[in-house]
Amino acid sequence: MANLWAGRFEKGMDDIVAEFNASIGFDKRLYNCDIDGSIAHVTMLSEAGIVTASEKDDIIAGLEGIRKDIASGKLVFTARQEDIHMAIEETLIARIGDAGKKLHTARSRNDQVQVDVRLYFMRETMTILEALVRLENVLLERALQNTDELLVGFTHLQHAQPVTIAFHLMAYFQMFRRDIERLMDARSRANKNPLGAGALGGTTFNINRHRTSELLGFDAPTENAMDSVSDRDYIIEFLSAASISMMHVSRFAEELVYWNSSEFKYISIDDGFCTGSSMMPQKKNPDIAELLRGKVGRVYGDLITLLTVMKGTPMSFNKDFQEDKEPMFDAIDTWKASISILAAMINKTEFRREEIDRHLSSGFLAATDIADSLVRQGIPFREAHEIVGKMVKYCEKKSCDFTDLKREDLIAVDGCFETMSLPDVSMKGCVNARTSFGGTAASEVKRQIEVGAAWLANIH
Ligand code: ARG
Repeated sequence: MANLWAGRFEKGMDDIVAEFNASIGFDKRLYNCDIDGSIAHVTMLSEAGIVTASEKDDIIAGLEGIRKDIASGKLVFTARQEDIHMAIEETLIARIGDAGKKLHTARSRNDQVQVDVRLYFMRETMTILEALVRLENVLLERALQNTDELLVGFTHLQHAQPVTIAFHLMAYFQMFRRDIERLMDARSRANKNPLGAGALGGTTFNINRHRTSELLGFDAPTENAMDSVSDRDYIIEFLSAASISMMHVSRFAEELVYWNSSEFKYISIDDGFCTGSSMMPQKKNPDIAELLRGKVGRVYGDLITLLTVMKGTPMSFNKDFQEDKEPMFDAIDTWKASISILAAMINKTEFRREEIDRHLSSGFLAATDIADSLVRQGIPFREAHEIVGKMVKYCEKKSCDFTDLKREDLIAVDGCFETMSLPDVSMKGCVNARTSFGGTAASEVKRQIEVGAAWLANIH
């Protein structure tokens, strides 16, 4: 069949050009959205008296038949058909004849592709939101089980202060909460209907864009036709939200990798998420966590790709924009899968109590607590800091811990210990003393869990 625009041309494209020009290889995944958009369009056209009711019925029946045949694999397209929009329209005309030729009245591929992508965007981002909500639920659940379980808290990857497992997990809960909020925010701005913008300037037909918005479930029609066919910033916002969230995934994955290492042994990753080595029989490698750590790279790439594609393009539609889809699809697939895998992994990860306890006994984790206690006994913080610093040096020289120091040792470190005493330096005591708002004390983390659960329950 000749191209839909053959009238203007003396000859068709070379094969190699047709391949290069085509987007059908990747935009065929938009077929359901394309058909939904066309059905809303023709429904509105018939209500406006632009096509007859029976033409509309024929078109809708034809489109539904095409939908079924694409889904079953009966209908396959070729690069010659360029993109999913033309492939479906061409097939419709071949199947139902003249009525099919009226579908594209008052529409351009420029607004058509945008309505398809926005519909796809709204649907897919909803499933990503659902995956994020599942992940948050897993974090809440694991946090609740671990409000009293201790963990080494680090800064600069050096032992810093004791925290709880729940506290650490709730830190990630907050990060993913902001990811959810960013995605919801991007969705609320994207939820506008570009259909009816035409090629760039609207249409001479008396169409009803509010009606197609309603039929397709968009909040409202886009305000300006030129913007509607030119704008891709909703995808860029999405890619940026995806990049930030994947960065969070990558950080979490890195913690799983080192927590699982033979040096740390804080956790044991479930066998189902590990692989063996082809050569070394003893190996159990955290490949899935490593893959999660690495997946962020492609999503950053997707963001930079589209920012670069859009840079410097003039109003309104340019073929450059066809390059928007692969990065968006890639980021959707990667983000969705990564969140689901991470949730499943955390759900099954076992914390190794004895090993964690072993680590808690080194690194002078109670140092800040001792300084705070000296402050409470009347010493200014800067001086207390120095005294405890000297205690650490003393212990290091003697290869012992704070709890091994006798009163003579303490007095040898600083005369203040003639009158002053050490606080409870048990790890549990240190943790549970941190009751400040946002702190790691069990009571405070339980509050954070409650607030988080209430927020999560109210998302819609
Ligand atoms: N395949 C094109 C895309 O992905 C559809 C829009 C084409 N419009 C045009 N005037 N060539 O963006």
